[in-house]
Amino acid sequence: MYDFAPDPDLPKAILYDDLLSAAKALVADEPDAVANMANVAALLWQFLPQVNWTGFYRMVDGELVLGPFIGRPACIRIPVGQGVCGAAAESRAAQLVADVHAFPGHIACDGDTRSELVVPVIKDGAVIAVIDLDSPDLARFDEEDRAGIERLAEVMAEAMSGSI
Ligand code: SME
Repeated sequence: MYDFAPDPDLPKAILYDDLLSAAKALVADEPDAVANMANVAALLWQFLPQVNWTGFYRMVDGELVLGPFIGRPACIRIPVGQGVCGAAAESRAAQLVADVHAFPGHIACDGDTRSELVVPVIKDGAVIAVIDLDSPDLARFDEEDRAGIERLAEVMAEAMSGSI
């Protein structure tokens, strides 16, 4: 049994240190990318307060396809360049969106979502997935979240050696 006990009142820097330690422990020595994405989606859900969707889209044949997640059922395929996830994949850079209604082309999977953070997972120079976090709060995510999830994306790049 994995019994992580995150304290959402911790300073974000410490929360992300703990989240990263837990993620590294979960994916250690496990080559199955789906298993690792599933466990990390659950970890994000457990560690981060005020989120309504945590999960992955995988790059499959040049298109983002829904991967393991926690939250409401979501749109399955997202073309690169569309929505917040597609923008992260195209730009190869994190997208920190304080108000999704102000983001041109935002794809509304859950009507409750108000802010979003999407970070690409880059392996050997290619975007192989994105990590997507949604929140029902406006401006839920900040630069500390971006930095923390970018560190997580580096861990995931190593944890997704198998077929995704
Ligand atoms: N809102 C995303 C789509 C994915 S859902 O949030 C799970 C986007 O605009 O790319």
